This record gives sequence, structure tokens and C-alpha cells, in this order.
Amino acid sequence: MHPENNSCDTNDKSSCSSSTPKEEISYKNHWDNAYANNPVEKLGWYESDLSPTLDLLNKTKLSKTARILNVGAGATTLVDKLESDGYTNIIATDISKVSLDHLKSRLGNHSERVEFIIDDLINPSVLLNIEPVDLWIDRAVLHFFNKCEEQDEYFNLLKKSIKKDGYVILAEYNLNGATKCAGLPVHRYSKEMLQEKLGDGFKLINSFDYTYTMPHGHLRPYIYTLFQKD
Ligand SMILES: C[S@@+](CC[C@H](N)C(=O)[O-])C[C@H]1O[C@@H](n2cnc3c(N)ncnc32)[C@H](O)[C@@H]1O
Repeated sequence: MHPENNSCDTNDKSSCSSSTPKEEISYKNHWDNAYANNPVEKLGWYESDLSPTLDLLNKTKLSKTARILNVGAGATTLVDKLESDGYTNIIATDISKVSLDHLKSRLGNHSERVEFIIDDLINPSVLLNIEPVDLWIDRAVLHFFNKCEEQDEYFNLLKKSIKKDGYVILAEYNLNGATKCAGLPVHRYSKEMLQEKLGDGFKLINSFDYTYTMPHGHLRPYIYTLFQKD
């Protein structure tokens, strides 16, 4: 995939679909190709400024030994930052082995301090059996799940994976955002929509709109949210 193909269209799409026929596309191949064929720094979701996620993380006051699960981590530099900040219990998971290999190789020796899990969030196997975590971090992953059953799988996994009093950071395209990214349709969210998906067992601690600037300069509005499980 050419980096420019990560540009995003703005169309209206506000509800999940239960009737869409099974798509032929292999999401694993799609994402593996994106990471294999582009420099990571040119990918449309590459972040050099991690401050929105770190601001929410700081609000949790979690200890450095907290168990942190970064879902759909890809090759994000957030993992490098958490590791260098002294967090000792980081798990990076993604459907794309290519992305995690890239992350692992960039971390070098430090990768020994990170657990890597290749798995599909909407058809999980390994992730079903992990010990519950203190913090689930998702930036730009959930919004790729357009079908109701995909969203249900995602939230079922999330709810079972978080400890009591644990936290969730969800950073997704907001309602003013684009509806396509990386060549795939996306489902946009408000904080109210995320609260509804999480249910009464989670309370909203903080949220803000944030406009992300893509590597080639286009702007993408996100909603950042921090929830805590009761
Ligand atoms: C837009 S990228 C964001 C990557 C990373 N969170 C970041 O902020 O740089 C979306 C990521 O979600 C991963 N992904 C997509 N569908 C997935 C699935 N079903 N299960 C696990 N990961 C998935 C992709 O491989 C990709 O790394």
C-alpha cells in the first residue's frame, strides 16, 4: 500500500451493520502489507507526539508495574516510550506479525521487557486466556470494526480482560472525522457512543477532542477517552 492510500474520505456513517456480507478481504494481509510496504514514519497513523495518550495515562496514577495491554499496537512508538519510562509489564498485541516484528526490532534488547501477542481482537484465541490487565490502550483500532458482531466481539474481549478498577483508553475517529482510513471504512465515535458500548460497568473519567496531523499534513479529528471499570 502506498502511504497516500492511508488518506481518509469524509462520508456519513454512524451505525454498525449486521447485514453486510462477509468480506473477502484478509485483514491480516491488509495490515501486514501496509507495514511491509511503507516506512513506519510515513504511515497515515504514525505518531511522533504521544502526549494525548500519555496525558490520560497520567490521570490513572497506575504504578510502573501495572499490566498494560496496547491493542492493535502495530509499530507504535508508545511502547518504546512506556518501556523507557519504566513500565515493566507491557503487552503489545496486533493482528499483523510484520508490525510487531518491526516494533520488536526497533526496541532491540529492550524488547525482552515487552510481551508480544499476535492475535485478532475480533476472533481472539491467545487473548482469551491472558491474565486481566490494569489498562487497555487502543488508538485507532476499534474504529475499523464496522459490523455489529465485530464490535460485540471487541467489547466482550475488553470487558473480560480488564481488572476491577482497571482503566481503558480509547482514541478513535470522532464524529467530525473521516470515514475511510488505510483503504478501509471506519466507524466514528462520540464519548457517549463509547460509554454505551462499554455499559454501566465503566465510568468516564476524562475525554477530549484532539486533531491529529498525519505525516503528509492532513488533519484527522479524534475523540480521546479514559474510562474506569467499577
Ligand atoms: C491505524 S493502525 C494504529 C496502530 C497503533 N495503535 C498506532 O497508534 O500507531 C491500526 C492497527 O490495528 C491493527 N488491527 C487491525 N485490525 C485488527 C484486529 N482485528 N486485531 C488486532 N489488530 C488489528 C492493525 O494491524 C494496525 O496495527
